[in-house]
Amino acid sequence: MAKEKKDPIDSYGSKEKLYDKAKVAYYCSPPRDFILFNADTFEMLPLFKFKFDMIFADPPYFLSSGGISVQSGKIVCVDKGDWDKSMSSEEINEFNLKWLSLCREKLKDNGTIWISGTYHNIFSVANCLTQLGYKILNKCTKAKDLKIFMYAVAPTYRKESETFGRLAIDVKNDSITEETIKELGYIMFHYWNNEKATLYKLIKKPHIVNKIDIPDGYLLRIEKDSERFILLEYNPEIMADLGECDIRKVQRKGKERYLPFITSLQNIICDDVNCTHGKRI
Ligand SMILES: C[S@@+](CC[C@H](N)C(=O)[O-])C[C@H]1O[C@@H](n2cnc3c(N)ncnc32)[C@H](O)[C@@H]1O
Repeated sequence: MAKEKKDPIDSYGSKEKLYDKAKVAYYCSPPRDFILFNADTFEMLPLFKFKFDMIFADPPYFLSSGGISVQSGKIVCVDKGDWDKSMSSEEINEFNLKWLSLCREKLKDNGTIWISGTYHNIFSVANCLTQLGYKILNKCTKAKDLKIFMYAVAPTYRKESETFGRLAIDVKNDSITEETIKELGYIMFHYWNNEKATLYKLIKKPHIVNKIDIPDGYLLRIEKDSERFILLEYNPEIMADLGECDIRKVQRKGKERYLPFITSLQNIICDDVNCTHGKRI
């Protein structure tokens, strides 16, 4: 006798209850073997009749506290929503304990849970996991690929540029945009085809502005017909060190050689153990 084909949605719990809470599935694959619901975890999870092999969660980091950022030269609020509002550590613990206990109930004994987070919430998450009897097996850390603004400065201007601390550098180069400067963390002053360079950590998020919007107090580094400027602020008293690097791996030749550009630490790092060139003081 042919086995009656079960509608996978039935195994999620009471169909009516699910649809009542989730209204309709946000997405349902044509054979109905993958269903995406958009609903409140606290209401939805208890409805499932079976236990899961794996849960992936990206819970709130509680970062929204009225902070601001600059996008395309405009000040914007970085708040994400009420669900992300910063709370006291007790409230954060309470929230994490609540959803993690629900997950614990719905996770098979040999099941696994993956949780992403930032340092704002991950320690609370780890404490709650331990409290609830989960076993923490591993942690994965995403290392940011450090981005460096490479500024080839003529010897006559070098000292002034290095010591000023606030530069407005013209960027004719289309590869320097709000998007590509997002993870910029350092400015490196260098000469063309010369291994010696000095490096400073940026102390403010850089952004790109039009010439008329350059604030007072910035040293202008202008070429003819400059329109777009990147604002970079660093502490000239504190030189940074990223380890042994060889900037000649990325320095350019010909007309391009004086144009500022962005590179990443990965591109200039010395992987040769005998590498001695490019060592900065
Ligand atoms: C860190 S964000 C995750 C962002 C997501 N990974 C993405 O790339 O869009 C946290 C998410 O949790 C959601 N959230 C907060 N409280 C929730 C709840 N009780 N039930 C379901 N989702 C919730 C928020 O709406 C937000 O989208």
